[in-house]
Amino acid sequence: MSWRCLRKRRNVLQLCLGAVAGVTASTSANAEVPRLNALVKEFTDSRVDGSLRQFASRKQLIYGAASGYAVLSSDPAFSAHFVKECEILVPENDLKWKRLRPTADEFDFAAADWLLKFAQTHRLQIRGHTLVWHLSLPDWLKETINSQNAERLLVKHIETVVGRYAGKMHSWDVVNEAIEPGDEQPNGLRNSPWFQALGEDYIELAFRAAAEADPNALLTYNDYGLEYDTPENDARRDATLKLLERLKSDGTPVHAFGMQSHLDGVETRLNPVKLQTFLKDIASLGLKIMVTELDVKDVGLPAAIALRDRLVASAYEEYLNIVLNEPAVIAVLTWGLSDRYTWLSRFSRREDGLSVRPLPLGVDLNRKPAWNAIARAFDTAPSR
Ligand code: XIL
Repeated sequence: MSWRCLRKRRNVLQLCLGAVAGVTASTSANAEVPRLNALVKEFTDSRVDGSLRQFASRKQLIYGAASGYAVLSSDPAFSAHFVKECEILVPENDLKWKRLRPTADEFDFAAADWLLKFAQTHRLQIRGHTLVWHLSLPDWLKETINSQNAERLLVKHIETVVGRYAGKMHSWDVVNEAIEPGDEQPNGLRNSPWFQALGEDYIELAFRAAAEADPNALLTYNDYGLEYDTPENDARRDATLKLLERLKSDGTPVHAFGMQSHLDGVETRLNPVKLQTFLKDIASLGLKIMVTELDVKDVGLPAAIALRDRLVASAYEEYLNIVLNEPAVIAVLTWGLSDRYTWLSRFSRREDGLSVRPLPLGVDLNRKPAWNAIARAFDTAPSR
């Protein structure tokens, strides 16, 4: 679909959504819904035999999802689906500082080790998330970090954690979310505790320490807010590309770019040309690209489940159809697999109080239109 076509369709969609919201607020019969139904794609072809990992692997793509020790160790039905659909597991929280570092001197690898064993038992790959972030930091760190001790703390953490799993990780998100143009620091960098203590150099330092501790892992820079044609996303794309250019020209061992891809179901400003140009620019630096945290927020979408699910599915498909055109994209990972466990039920609640439905499987673990949309996007993607 051309950009103009897409925009036209999205504009109509938006008008209809406005109408749906208006009508749903009153009790009258909803005359607009059939019009809207006609606009969103039908997701009726049930590809029951395949799994997302199979659809992906036919195109030399890797499909996987984030999950955690608490879930996988306690919900066998969910775990069975996870193992069936995924080729790679991303610990959602179990490798973050807050989980690994109860005190300055201690490391607690219990949950992460369990996940590694789970992955090995079920022949899944595993990827590390994340070594340097401004969130999920333990209180002791926030209270003690300063420009004298920060480098030592960071390097020791990376040496120990990456060293422990060396040779076993597909990839590591070494630095997460270092860009925040709103913080008004040089180069659009986020004013994080690491930046405050070490300046921009913390990024290179982290990549070098990770490369030394595991020369085989694909070392990734991961960030969000890069998908849409908005001034804010423009600024993030610009700062991200420039950061990656600087890192590459300094010889920093960065191998891949992770595009989180937390999509918004009501957002209409998807610009295929801009997005593809951004991905091409990244690829031209010699970097691989991974979609690392894909999901679709359904806040603001109609309450009716059938309609909502199709709009979410349509957002997945439109996005993946654009992104998978870039041959440097090697993996698509969703941030969770089933609506039974999604961070959005806490971080992006619907105003009507209904459960959110952002992922490929439902709460009942059945495949939703989103599953079908992802499968179809893999199916129609060019081979890598
Ligand atoms: C989120 C987890 O999903 C939540 O369970 C946790 O409470 C906070 O972090 N970007 C990231 C992820 O890089 O680490 C975040 O994960 C979601 C946004």
